[in-house]
Amino acid sequence: MVQTAAPNVSYEQWGEKRPVTLDAAGALETPDGRVKPNTGQTIEDLKAIGDESESLASWQSRNGIDPSRQIKIVKVSHMRYQHADLDVIVKFLIDFGMCIAHKTDDEIWFRGYGPDQYVYYARRGTEKKFLGGAFEVETYGDLEKAATIPGASDITEMKEAPGGGHIVTLQDPEGFLVNLIYGQTPAPQSAFPQKVIYNNVHDKPRIRKFNRFTPGPAAVHKLGHFGLCVQNFDAMVEWYTKNFNFAPTDFLYVPMPNDDAKSTSGKKIKDVAVFTHIDRGEDPVDHHTFFMTTNKTTHVHHCSFEVHDYDTQQLGHQWLAKEGYTSVWGIGRHILGSQIFDYWWTPDMNMIEHYADGDLVNKDTPVGWGSAGHESLAVWGPEVPQWFLE
Ligand SMILES: [Fe+2]
Repeated sequence: MVQTAAPNVSYEQWGEKRPVTLDAAGALETPDGRVKPNTGQTIEDLKAIGDESESLASWQSRNGIDPSRQIKIVKVSHMRYQHADLDVIVKFLIDFGMCIAHKTDDEIWFRGYGPDQYVYYARRGTEKKFLGGAFEVETYGDLEKAATIPGASDITEMKEAPGGGHIVTLQDPEGFLVNLIYGQTPAPQSAFPQKVIYNNVHDKPRIRKFNRFTPGPAAVHKLGHFGLCVQNFDAMVEWYTKNFNFAPTDFLYVPMPNDDAKSTSGKKIKDVAVFTHIDRGEDPVDHHTFFMTTNKTTHVHHCSFEVHDYDTQQLGHQWLAKEGYTSVWGIGRHILGSQIFDYWWTPDMNMIEHYADGDLVNKDTPVGWGSAGHESLAVWGPEVPQWFLE
């Protein structure tokens, strides 16, 4: 049973009452008030982001960021959580589309079919705990550099983890753990799902071929992103973007008319959320790998895993529903990042997402700003539930 907030309910976020419905956010109103068919188009990043933007190089120089001093992250690798009941999380993650790569009495490593040895690490503990995301860095030297940041752990060899490698764990200014790994051997190649051919009205390449699907979990490819609810937003943005090659793709802001207002855009607005990508220069990377949003409390918001396509995702949604798990929000289509999303609660109430069909960016994609007041979480999908915003 999908639970959402009743229509016309509002919820306070970023200092404003915000309606918890899609139509109140404008998504169901036609721009000029006349009823016209909907449209969809694929447009250049520069055009999609529009005038409220700035080049990444300019944003970095204005904010005193020297990319040559950053610890270089290659990609996000896996999530790390502690759970009170490992049996329950095993059943859930298998229904979510992962497999067990390796286990001991108190630790389990779960894999997808992508290039990583594992995408989710679970440790047994007396209570549930968020142990941070893990990012793969370019060189062992990056681990050594990270180990000099105040509060960092020593470099430790991961003897039991599939693919081995070394790990350093840092603490960000708000106390979240940040894990950096290096030296993991690539996973043996797994079979990828077949590309399903779609016919649309003017392009029908599927002739005398029929689409057939089998029910089951949506197989997870890789970890795509995760995000944090924070209170010291400016300090957190500074820490992440100075120390590492996290580059903002989009900021959301609220207006701040007084002279004290500050924003990394330099305007009289206050940034309240950021979606960041991993800056790999010319190479295309996911629109966001790590995001932060201001909130009354400090906690992890969700982590998100990529699945093959829309049908895979729908079948996976159906599977999780059949197994009796609780949907948070979905299936719908985000605006920033364009992903098709589907959020669920784990049995111990962590939020976890399947996504498909996300945008890619690179160093030439400008940093964009959008009003958090005209919230643009989704263009279609069920009403936004209140608990998604908490
Ligand atoms: Fe997400």
